[in-house]
Amino acid sequence: MKSTGESPDAKRAKIHEKPSADALLSVKKSKKRTISIAVCASMLENLKGEGSKHRVIAQIARAAAIFRVNEVIVVDDAYKNPGFDSSKDSNLFQLILEYLDCPQYLRKSLFPMCLELKHIGVAPPLDASHHVRMEDEVPYREGIVTRVSLGSVWLDVGLHEDIKIESRAEVKQGLRVTVNMTEKSIVGPDTPRKKDGLYWGYRTRVAKSISEVIALCPFEKGYDMTIGTSERGESILELEALGKFRHLLIVFGGPKGLEHALEQDKALTQVKEPKNVFDKYLNTCPLQGSRTIRTEEAVLISLSALQKYFWCS
Ligand SMILES: C[S@@+](CC[C@H](N)C(=O)[O-])C[C@H]1O[C@@H](n2cnc3c(N)ncnc32)[C@H](O)[C@@H]1O
Repeated sequence: MKSTGESPDAKRAKIHEKPSADALLSVKKSKKRTISIAVCASMLENLKGEGSKHRVIAQIARAAAIFRVNEVIVVDDAYKNPGFDSSKDSNLFQLILEYLDCPQYLRKSLFPMCLELKHIGVAPPLDASHHVRMEDEVPYREGIVTRVSLGSVWLDVGLHEDIKIESRAEVKQGLRVTVNMTEKSIVGPDTPRKKDGLYWGYRTRVAKSISEVIALCPFEKGYDMTIGTSERGESILELEALGKFRHLLIVFGGPKGLEHALEQDKALTQVKEPKNVFDKYLNTCPLQGSRTIRTEEAVLISLSALQKYFWCS
């Protein structure tokens, strides 16, 4: 191909000049839609060796960023195996997910070094769109409040110097906030998505059971489409459409599958089969050649197989 002599940055800017019809549709849809995934903490159970849990959690975090997942829920599916403390793993899971979602320039302030972060070096970065570089001219930046005085707030937003904004918002030193760089104002963490269709990372929470995952949905009116995943589900090849949704939830089990997590769920004792808990119960990898698909693999496979329904239905 003939070289145009343009710098890579100029080429990139040109590509972004005219978004394709597909990209425009996705941006429009992502303003109104959210995607949540729930993963059972027991998926970490058999992982031994330094940094092995960190590596697997990072795979979940990367899958979430790649597919524009807005919420990652860790299900503390109490396993009765001796020596397995599920809440310890759930807390580690949430910590690593939050650490990786946080822009690099804020990590030192927000995550003091601790034993749980000792092996974080094995985790590849998310490189998500809210992880902006110093030289990027962007409409929003994540920041931390460094000083508050008489209606003025100073923020570290990853630039050479802190920026000063006038704000009546009740903010305290050390708080993480989202900043509109044009209007010089503090906005809600969902504003970049809702107003501009930008992917702005995921929020996290730990739930004690699958029923709690669904009951404590942070989005208005709750999840209106839920999908359980299993090799015993309906083949995705038979799925003609997913239907319209605003808040989609996809749930993944641990080594013993979703059936096990549901058996432990005290609020669902009447429910005999997982397919009765979710709107859809899907096998996203029919004809699998390996006897088992690990949860971290299932997350990538399922999000990839379902992606066309996220933005095109
Ligand atoms: C190691 S698998 C669980 C295997 C377990 N023996 C069972 O019978 O379900 C862990 C999780 O990966 C997901 N998974 C595995 N295979 C899948 C498939 N073919 N389609 C969709 N999800 C799958 C499910 O969420 C499952 O709970």
